[in-house]
Amino acid sequence: MSIKKLLITMAVAAVLIVPAAGFSDTIAEGERLGKTCAGCHGTAGNTPGTYIGKIGGQNSAYMSKVLKEFSADKRPASVEMSIVAKGYSDIQLESVAAYYASLKWVNSDNPVDSKKILAGKAMASDNGCLDCHGIKGEGIGEFPRIGGQNKGYLYEVMKRYRSGDISSDEMSMLSDFSDDQLDQLANFFSGIR
Ligand code: HEC
Ligand code: HEC
Repeated sequence: MSIKKLLITMAVAAVLIVPAAGFSDTIAEGERLGKTCAGCHGTAGNTPGTYIGKIGGQNSAYMSKVLKEFSADKRPASVEMSIVAKGYSDIQLESVAAYYASLKWVNSDNPVDSKKILAGKAMASDNGCLDCHGIKGEGIGEFPRIGGQNKGYLYEVMKRYRSGDISSDEMSMLSDFSDDQLDQLANFFSGIR
């Protein structure tokens, strides 16, 4: 190998190795800082019950964004999360988000109703929900994963977008939906496998 080629190879290797090492440090730091989350979000972010969202395997970009918003009181709807997030710096919140995002997503086992699923599925395709959230609701970048999420959480959080409690340009479309329709959407997305 010529010197020039060797130098290029080394430069490429350095670029590949440095962020990777930094990334695993971030995850380890996030694991250490994120132990307290388990009290409400369960082991490995696989939140039991129905009314609190799962965070294990949720998108990192989305979680970083909402955690910083909780901390800055830009998401006043959740008192618990505002208090929790204020205990961390923004960089620490990014580490915690990276740690939970690195874990395996486990689908909800909340019971779902097959009639509501059919109605919810039709509404989801008519309204472009899958275009942003992915064909199986698996999430893309800042568009959160909603497929396999806990049903009660999906229903409650959609009501908060509808009322404007949580403001989001993308989700303001829910203002036209009835409680029944949100329930059908929650059944469909929670039941996606
Ligand atoms: C005291 C209970 C409690 C603790 C501790 C807690 N959370 Fe939460 N978390 C909640 C509740 C309740 C919600 C739902 C808030 C809402 O509906 O707006 C929530 C929501 C979230 C969300 C938004 C979920 C979504 O899908 O949009 C994220 C992300 C989150 N928590 C991460 C964390 C992290 C990371 C920690 C630890 C640093 C943590 N939580 C600790 C109760 C808690
Ligand atoms: C233009 C893209 C877009 C479309 C279309 C869209 N969403 Fe969203 N959705 C988002 C974004 C972005 C967020 C995060 C907003 C925030 O910061 O709170 C979100 C958040 C959500 C959440 C909360 C997730 C959580 O973990 O808290 C649910 C549930 C949801 N959307 C359901 C739907 C449903 C149902 C539809 C169709 C009726 C839909 N979305 C259509 C972009 C979209």
